[in-house]
Amino acid sequence: MALSLPDQTTTSQPAFPSESNESEPNNEQRKTNNEELAAHVLAGLTRQPRALSSMYFYDAVGSELFQQIMALPEYYPTRTEFGLLTRHRAAMAAALTSADGQPLHLLELGAGDGLKTKILLRELLAAGTDFTYAPVDISPTAVEGLAESLRTELPTLRVQPLVAEYTAALAGLRGQPGRKAVLFLGSNIGNFPPEARQQFLAALAAQLGPDDRLLFGFDLRKDPRQIRAAYDDAQGVTAAFNLNLLTRLNRELQADFDLAAWEHFADYDPLTGAMRSFLVSRRAQQVRIGALGRSFDFAAWEAIHTENSYKFTLPQIEQLAAAAGLRVLTAFQDEQQWFADVMLAPVP
Ligand SMILES: C[S@@+](CC[C@H](N)C(=O)[O-])C[C@H]1O[C@@H](n2cnc3c(N)ncnc32)[C@H](O)[C@@H]1O
Repeated sequence: MALSLPDQTTTSQPAFPSESNESEPNNEQRKTNNEELAAHVLAGLTRQPRALSSMYFYDAVGSELFQQIMALPEYYPTRTEFGLLTRHRAAMAAALTSADGQPLHLLELGAGDGLKTKILLRELLAAGTDFTYAPVDISPTAVEGLAESLRTELPTLRVQPLVAEYTAALAGLRGQPGRKAVLFLGSNIGNFPPEARQQFLAALAAQLGPDDRLLFGFDLRKDPRQIRAAYDDAQGVTAAFNLNLLTRLNRELQADFDLAAWEHFADYDPLTGAMRSFLVSRRAQQVRIGALGRSFDFAAWEAIHTENSYKFTLPQIEQLAAAAGLRVLTAFQDEQQWFADVMLAPVP
């Protein structure tokens, strides 16, 4: 594919530390962000099939809607992973910590609201671990909300929050002193299509030394109906989350998407493990995107692919790790085998 999409671009997003006084992006940053979004939308809507990255779901409204999704009865991943972290927190914290007491740099990619991570952070603090927590997320509101809640809930924690795209966040990793550990929870890894997933893991592994660790969440294959329901809930919150992407384009790129003419569609393929979401045009229509100075024609029932959420098997996870020069130390699983939090290390 021309784009390493549908879900994760490899373009870097300008990063700004949210510890600075700038709680909001300034005009220059906003302009650059909009230019990147405009370039992405142009590429995504001129290719066939049309696709936009799920990375752009997470404006302030999108991040808020995702918090609502995590609490939905159908959305089993968050509850299941929360249970895993609660049950295995001591073993996980011990595996992340270096036996010789080196300081730990704990990077979290796509941290979101950090609800589950706080279980581990509390455990590490209670064990007296010398560590810095560096949550990274593309969503400024998610990073600011997390940093604010940590200041109140865990005031002694050293935090280095960053608003950045994954790949940009990896750049500074190699130079960190001591042990490095990378958290990638919530099965965010499933957003990458297979080739980009492998490339991403190889790029990440290249930043690590033999003593470093990774803790990745993987959503496992299960009843296809259960998976599909998690991405098409009865209350329509996931539909609102998907459609919010069009609202964002209307606002940030002066587009004129008529939201009533689009609908959310989600489908799971049990052969490939691909859970995919689409925005489907309910009628033939033309949409103008002011920032691009052009219009796009959509046929009736034409789809824009907006998200992948791949599901995995344990042998597949082992293969993925091995191809990136990593090995599985422990796969923490719930009793129903719905989800796995997998501790990985570089092959010595
Ligand atoms: C599905 S949520 C999961 C959040 C958290 N890891 C959890 O398990 O609850 C994905 C998060 O990753 C962020 N995100 C998505 N794509 C990203 C990217 N390419 N770079 C940085 N952050 C990204 C989103 O803003 C969102 O907060």
